[in-house]
Amino acid sequence: MSAVYRNAAPPPIPWLSEGFFDFWSTRVHPLWTLRRPLARLLARHQASADAVTLELQPNRHFRGMQAGQHINLGVELDGRLTTRSYSPAALENGRLAVTVKRIAGGKLSQYLCEHAAVGEVFALGQAFGEMLLPAVLPPKLVMLAAGSGITPLRALLRQLDVQGMPGPVDLVYWARQREQLCFVDEFKAIAGRHPAFRLHLAVTGEGAARVGSYALGSLGDLAPAHVLACGPGGFVDAARSRLQARVAHFDSEAFSAPQLAEVGQGSVQIQLLRTGRTLSVPRGVALLPALEAAGIQPASGCRMGICNTCVCGKTSGITRHTLTGEYISEPSVPLKLCVSSASTDLTLEL
Ligand SMILES: Cc1cc2nc3c(=O)[nH]c(=O)nc-3n(C[C@H](O)[C@H](O)[C@H](O)COP(=O)(O)OP(=O)(O)OC[C@H]3O[C@@H](n4cnc5c(N)ncnc54)[C@H](O)[C@@H]3O)c2cc1C
Ligand code: FES
Repeated sequence: MSAVYRNAAPPPIPWLSEGFFDFWSTRVHPLWTLRRPLARLLARHQASADAVTLELQPNRHFRGMQAGQHINLGVELDGRLTTRSYSPAALENGRLAVTVKRIAGGKLSQYLCEHAAVGEVFALGQAFGEMLLPAVLPPKLVMLAAGSGITPLRALLRQLDVQGMPGPVDLVYWARQREQLCFVDEFKAIAGRHPAFRLHLAVTGEGAARVGSYALGSLGDLAPAHVLACGPGGFVDAARSRLQARVAHFDSEAFSAPQLAEVGQGSVQIQLLRTGRTLSVPRGVALLPALEAAGIQPASGCRMGICNTCVCGKTSGITRHTLTGEYISEPSVPLKLCVSSASTDLTLEL
């Protein structure tokens, strides 16, 4: 397994490369590296019908995390490092509990859910993300989660549980089927300990409405609420359109991206300055998957514009932000490949 780490300082012994050191040290102990964070899978258990929880032991280069943050996990699949973001709960024993929902056709989630074996070592990134508990708790906190979007909110709820649930908190948690819900016993136990926490399960396969038409009256007065919404892109968009203007504060994180309307409108040429290659990629498709499909493997992590791993210089051309739709025409700017699509021919420092 190998990972791309940017801005790495030179190794302390000039003639000893970091890769050489790590190659031999990991043969003595799988988590010993010069400075690369790694994590070893110590245990796994089923979290729901389509999700597993992986208990990971990070090595000493992992700098820790705050509840609500994410990490990048990398696994070598078919000879390539495949990296995706996950939102762990930090356990008291220093381990990370990562719950992965199996996505049909998904590359890494299927591997982690079905094949990852105890003892296996993964590349690990440092924690990132800003969806933390507000420093001063608002008069009302409303958490909205769908699918795997429950994972960072679960970490926040564990923190609130330890703090004695200092204010009223409502969690509305959507799933298609009841057996797809994770952590229900844990949430019910928290609700049992703290009457200020209310759990609302919304199983759409049993008739519950989606977020766009859900009966929000059960949550009380929403005007003073701080809302945290997390889940697939469509869910977060629907929650934002319904609530952003009605609540005091709306914060969200999407785990998957919507597609731009430009997709399918021809292709553009991308010149890669470092490798000297010129590629034709579809207009409107995010540059990261478009480059990967052409055999280029830029460093990546969250694939949602959050972790900054895929930042790359653009020297000419117009790009479009795939989440906001905004066009960026300045000639020399850093861009995030995962949330930028080409609107015209481009030159990239790759
Ligand atoms: C900040 C952040 C934190 C995340 N935390 C978690 C977590 O704790 N647990 C977890 O299971 N996932 C989490 N995800 C999603 C995770 O990073 C992967 O996207 C997911 O595991 C699918 O990866 P894949 O390689 O299997 O799918 P890919 O091969 O990358 O994609 C296959 C298809 O699935 C779609 N897809 C990707 N993710 C989702 C999703 N979450 N819901 C619906 N469709 C999706 C893609 O758009 C694509 O069409 C997080 C994502 C982000 C950005
Ligand atoms: S991969 Fe995280 S910002 Fe692009």
